[in-house]
Amino acid sequence: MQIVLIEGDGIGPEVTGAACRVVAAAGVRIDWVKAPAGAQAAEQLGEPLPEQTLEMIRRYRVALKGPCTTPVGKGYRSINVRLRQGLDLYASVRPVRTLPGVKTPYEQVDLVVVRENTEGLYSGLEHQVVPGVVESVRLVTRAAAERIVRYAFEHARHAGRRLVTFCHKADVMRLSDGLFLECARAVADEYPFIRFEEKTIDNVCLELALDPSGFDVLVMENLFGDVISDLAAGLVGGLGLVPGANLGSRSAVFEAVHGSAPDIAGKGLANPVAVVRSAAMMLGHVGHRPAGEAIERAVVSTLEKGVGLTRDLGGDGTTATITEQIIKNLGA
Ligand code: NAI
Repeated sequence: MQIVLIEGDGIGPEVTGAACRVVAAAGVRIDWVKAPAGAQAAEQLGEPLPEQTLEMIRRYRVALKGPCTTPVGKGYRSINVRLRQGLDLYASVRPVRTLPGVKTPYEQVDLVVVRENTEGLYSGLEHQVVPGVVESVRLVTRAAAERIVRYAFEHARHAGRRLVTFCHKADVMRLSDGLFLECARAVADEYPFIRFEEKTIDNVCLELALDPSGFDVLVMENLFGDVISDLAAGLVGGLGLVPGANLGSRSAVFEAVHGSAPDIAGKGLANPVAVVRSAAMMLGHVGHRPAGEAIERAVVSTLEKGVGLTRDLGGDGTTATITEQIIKNLGA
């Protein structure tokens, strides 16, 4: 089976390398087709997201991706945003759950953040009106709003989840989130067997901080989803743990929530768990669910035993030691 591999920048090659080792150890043979993207691609090829990379993902349909660096406030547009828009990977799915052995203020967090990935404030429609005044367009279309909420309900249905919370700010952004909310209500009516609730995004933040255990599936627009994904990751032990998928009707790109972590890049300190778990999700997507589940169990067992863990998990190990432990625990 051929799957595209984007190693990415910073800690990207270290953590994707670890994930490839774990997948091989789980007994799934993949011919990784390497595709360039990120700051390194920009430097070497003059283009951070070469068309050939998009073509490869269109062709092979599935990719595992490391994080890519985006310059702040200057330079090229976010590769991640372009990739998601270019391949119409409209649903970002991030399962967030408490893991054994990872100290957090809460137990029993088990939720999924579903984020609209192609529009909202990340639509890339920004311009300067006059010097000192800029406008950023917050794009909401009925088609995209309905399909993301429908995705959230379908996900809930397949995963046996009972509640979908739509997060919005329709009281202030009356037109854009007003339309989104209207679409969410209409789609929710198609699923009378799944509970639906609507909450303002600020209220959701408060409730997540006070008691996240009440949430199940959360669905929202792009920017809110970006912020809530990181917040939710923090609730279960940090960015190094949470996996993610960007799904479209044709292609899928699996990647961690975290970025390229330039502060620890090249030092062997990166926690590969989030990318390893993203690879496990990817295996489920391509028909290797048992191998994906075995990897997830091996990660849980590694965290439980607490041997070889990286610093962010309170250990004194490295990317290599935790990867070895995950591989060792695959057989357990
Ligand atoms: P970041 O996630 O790279 O780092 C935030 C903090 O978390 C840092 O202290 C870092 O050391 C730590 N951290 C992140 N991942 C870790 C891991 N696996 N193991 C141990 N510690 C980890 O976020 P930041 O600093 O805001 O972004 C850095 C770059 O990454 C930026 O250029 C940003 O645009 C890019 N980025 C890319 C993403 C992607 O490709 N999907 C997602 C988020 C950010």
